[in-house]
Amino acid sequence: MKNRVFEEFLARFGSGARLYAAPGRVNLIGEHTDYNGGFVLPGAIDRCIWLAVRPAAGRRSRIWSVDFDEGIELNIADEPPRVSWARYIYGVVSEMARRGVDVPAFDAVFGGDIPSGAGLSSSAALESVFAFALNDLSERKLTPVELARAGQMTEHRYIGVRCGIMDQMISLLGERDRVMRLDCRSLEYEMIPFRPEGCRLVLIDSMVSHSLAGTEYNLRRSQCERGVAIIARHVPRVTLLRDVGLDMLDTYRSEMDEWVYRRCRYVIEENVRLLIGCDRLRSGDYAGFGEKMFESHRGLSQEYGVSCGELDFIQEIARGYDGVLGSRMMGGGFGGCVLNLVSDGACESFLDEVDRRYAARYGLHPRTIDVVIGGGARRLE
Ligand code: GLA
Repeated sequence: MKNRVFEEFLARFGSGARLYAAPGRVNLIGEHTDYNGGFVLPGAIDRCIWLAVRPAAGRRSRIWSVDFDEGIELNIADEPPRVSWARYIYGVVSEMARRGVDVPAFDAVFGGDIPSGAGLSSSAALESVFAFALNDLSERKLTPVELARAGQMTEHRYIGVRCGIMDQMISLLGERDRVMRLDCRSLEYEMIPFRPEGCRLVLIDSMVSHSLAGTEYNLRRSQCERGVAIIARHVPRVTLLRDVGLDMLDTYRSEMDEWVYRRCRYVIEENVRLLIGCDRLRSGDYAGFGEKMFESHRGLSQEYGVSCGELDFIQEIARGYDGVLGSRMMGGGFGGCVLNLVSDGACESFLDEVDRRYAARYGLHPRTIDVVIGGGARRLE
């Protein structure tokens, strides 16, 4: 794909392009915690969006998508485009301009190998590759965190998803063989080595394509905010669920509807699970880490309500399978992938078993994707 992007640029616009890449991500644990000011543990993957780009004269940018096989002209002074992929780019440029960057017009070709709708953050990769490249081409430079904010606000303002900042942060700042323990309140992070010996991460894609723009994601977020608002009436220092412990939540339980209470409890417990999980990772206890993945899935499915039958089906097989150390649905939910930590010896038979039973139940074969933790956004020679 990298070469295709470059060749397509040559054919359409000629020479002089710079080439950039930004990856998708997995998240080991800490789901739906980012917008609550909590912790997440993502890693960049070796699947990317590649972008060939060159500054152009005037105000109009020309952009070609290899995957969609279509192009548009974009002028930031015009209304946002209707074409969905182009809205992301329009959003990134606008958000960078808001932050004082005078983004030049440009000619660009992009394409990628991150399956979309699988929960691997292909949209954050798209935002990040444009943000990173246009920042590189501009005079005034934004920091990676400012670029991540530009990507996140693109989702809020131009796509309608009130997402957190995890996906953009890891796409911009990922490192090979390391996962990022990110504190989403302070945005401080620690890179933790992730080199499980004798086991590996495997994604199983349910092939149910989720749409985060669906109201469910935003609904979860507002349920969390509702819980915070109720507690803040009594404890004014509370501004995020991060500031709330289980005892405090229980104190005000009677004022909340049952669903608000359960959503909030899930988030608080998920943060605790993540912190314990990180301790275990640091000491090389991958089996102990895997236990936290199982618990995380239970919470996501039963308390937070973002799983679906297909994901639960895969995860249940995994949970009962000898040699699977941990397994959980991953990302926003309602479809996409189950992330599994599996011992090398059991991997093949486990995947066969899932394939066979999933096909018998749902009439289609899930796709498996080996996870290699790779680097973040970069310029390529
Ligand atoms: C999506 C969002 C992230 C995060 C996850 C759930 O990927 O973009 O910000 O909230 O869902 O953990």
